[in-house]
Formats: sequence, structure tokens, C-alpha cells
Amino acid sequence: MNVRAEEVARLRALFPALAEGDLAPLDNAATTHRPQAVLDAASRFYKESNANVHRANHRLGMAATGAYEAARQRVARFLDSEAEEVVFTRNATDAINLVARGWLEPRLNAEDVVVVTALEHHSNLVPWQQVCRRTGARLCVLPVDESGRLQEPFEFPERACFLATTRVSNALGTIVDTAALVEQAQSRGMAVLVDVTQSAGHLPLDAGSRAADFLALSAHKMYGPMGVGVLRGRAQRLAEMDPVSYGGEMVDGVSQQSANWRAPPWRFEAGTPAVAPVVAFPPALDLLDSVGLASVRAHELDLLGLLLEGLKGIEGLLLVGPPEAEDRSGAVSLAIPGGDPHVAATLLDLSGVAVRAGWHCAEPLLRRMGQGPTLRASVALYSSGHDVERLLEALPEAVAACRDPAPNL
Ligand SMILES: Cc1ncc(COP(=O)(O)O)c(C=O)c1O
Repeated sequence: MNVRAEEVARLRALFPALAEGDLAPLDNAATTHRPQAVLDAASRFYKESNANVHRANHRLGMAATGAYEAARQRVARFLDSEAEEVVFTRNATDAINLVARGWLEPRLNAEDVVVVTALEHHSNLVPWQQVCRRTGARLCVLPVDESGRLQEPFEFPERACFLATTRVSNALGTIVDTAALVEQAQSRGMAVLVDVTQSAGHLPLDAGSRAADFLALSAHKMYGPMGVGVLRGRAQRLAEMDPVSYGGEMVDGVSQQSANWRAPPWRFEAGTPAVAPVVAFPPALDLLDSVGLASVRAHELDLLGLLLEGLKGIEGLLLVGPPEAEDRSGAVSLAIPGGDPHVAATLLDLSGVAVRAGWHCAEPLLRRMGQGPTLRASVALYSSGHDVERLLEALPEAVAACRDPAPNL
């Protein structure tokens, strides 16, 4: 078993929230922890260069603008893109809504079809539902099989014009073959958004994500701060997209009756942005790059293997999603027939194991899998074999107790 114990101990020491106490942090799909370098960068901004961006030409203003635009360049480098293709948003949800309202809605007709997969988080489903509702277009869902993998061959309806797909399901952990999916969609002239929120901090960027017209992610799922997300749009697509939020700093010139816009990406960043979180994001990317996403993947694969193997010996649990670790990233969802996963999660917490219970913002997917809310364990680069063993040790009792009609909490 290669779970790189020394390297994990070194990484874990970088995260103040993990240094104290004795928690096995296995709720990383909801949000990761942040290393000291990220906390320091946010605090340094307020102490040393606190000013609004893109307006003041005093020294603090210039320092703030410089750091903000340097962060854009750093994100672009991480995503193998150009700085002008990086729009800062509040989170991945905001990035997806921007594309739905600003790019897709103005181009959509009632005869058109928007395609999503059955694996989507609500944030990559509901915005497309709403656009279809407003335009009369149809929403088509690519189905999954019994093990939560996308069914192949992928079949697109004739009038399909847009595809929104995740790279990794947050609820099941399924990895989507976005290379094949995006290639097929784009070869039909469709535009594509790939939601890399659950993959950007876990898997190397794949060909499908690189080729996509739009990418959406949240910094807080990849060791960065809360309050900042990224929309990476191809330059051509951003040039075509309408702003959906209007006000200061996104304008070039304003008269009493009209206004025109700055170039992308700034035209999509109306008002004062979340400067401190933005400038604190690069140290998280530095950490990911220094470890290397291929190594992160290898480490998490070891942990998933350990977890899946250990689960085989525990009664009363049903693995939801692909049985093989190779088909998964990050998260493992477990149903407890006849039991309440929320109770199990509370009991696990009493044993010092943090997991999440619920629908995981993917209610249609869990219903399609024939399930209700599940228990979800999810790993990160600082997760250890010991964390997984603690979960496996605590699970049998938690599962048995949560199936008890009157558990003794
Ligand atoms: C796959 C996926 N997409 C989108 C989101 C939405 O992210 P946020 O809440 O940061 O906007 C999440 C959050 O869990 C997610 O897992």
C-alpha cells in the first residue's frame, strides 16, 4: 500500500485547520481546507496593499491592481489559457449562470436543444433549465447506466446546440470521458461548457477540458479562498457574450442614456471584486503545481482503492457509483438501506470523522440511481491512509446504529 505517509504529513502541516485536533477530514468535495500561504496572502493584501482595483493611481491602488491582474495571469497559466480568457466570478455557480444568461440565452431558439448529463450538480443543471424555460428550448439529459457512468455511445438530438457537462460528479465521483464527449459535441458545431469544479484540484487538465469553449470552477474546492470562482472562456466566446451585471468598472464610457463596455474579461466583472480572495488564490495553485496533479491523482487513487476494498467487508452499505477506483475521483457515495445517512454522519463525527450526508446538490442523479440522500466521503491531497482507516473502523457501528429506529446518540 503506497499512501505516501511522509509526504502527506508534510502537506498536512501546511494547513492550520488540520494541525490541531484529531479530525479525519473526509468532506473535501464540499470544500477543502486552505494552507497557511493562502491565509497569509489574504491578510497581506489587507495589511499592505488595501485599495480598490482598477481605479486608484496611488501606490496602494497600483499594488492592489497589480496583484489582482497577476492572479488572473496565474490562473490562466494553471488552465493553460490566456489572461484575457479568465473572468473572476463569485464561484462556479456564478460562472455557469453568466454563460447561461450572457452567452446561451441570447442565441437560443425554441427549436434548439441544450444537452446536459445526468451527473450534474444542481449548479450545472438549474441554470440551463431556466434558460430553456425562458426561451422554449428543450433540455436533453444524457443518461447514466446502473453504475453511474455515462452511457455510450453518446447520442445528441438533431438540434443540439450546447453541451454542459461535468468532468467529475460531485455526488458519485464518476469521471466523465470529457475528451470524447467534447470532441463529439464540438464536431457537430455545439458549444461546450465543462464544469471542472470537482476535477481541477484532483486531476490533470484533460483534452476535453482544454478544448471546451467554457470552463467553470470554484477556488474553495482547490485549497483557495471562498468567494472566488473562475469562468475560463475562449476569447471568441467571451467577445460574443453579453454582460449580465452592469455598473462600475465594466464600462468604457457612459452617457446619461447609454453606456458601452470594456473589453473582456473586465466587462464581466462589474463592481468591486473579491480582491483579497482573488489575490490569495495563486498560493493554492502554487501548492497544486508543486505537488503535481499527476501525483495528487496517484495518491487519491491509492486512498480510493483502500476505501473501496475496506467497504467490501462492511454490512448494510451500498456503494453508489462505479465499482472501480480508476473510474472515480475524489468522492465515494454510500447508501444505507433502511438507515438515515445524516444520523450515520453525526455518529461518525463523534468518532472524529468528517463526512457529508445529503443529496449533495445532485437530487435528480441520486434519484436516477434509485437512492435518496447518501453518505459521502471525499479525499484531498492531505488525506491519509489513516483517515480512511478511521472511517472504515467507525462505519460498522454508525451504520448499524443509524438503522436502529431509536439510536442512542
Ligand atoms: C461539480 C460541481 N459543480 C458546481 C458546484 C458549485 O460550486 P459552488 O457552490 O462553489 O458554486 C459544485 C459544488 O459542490 C460541484 O461539486
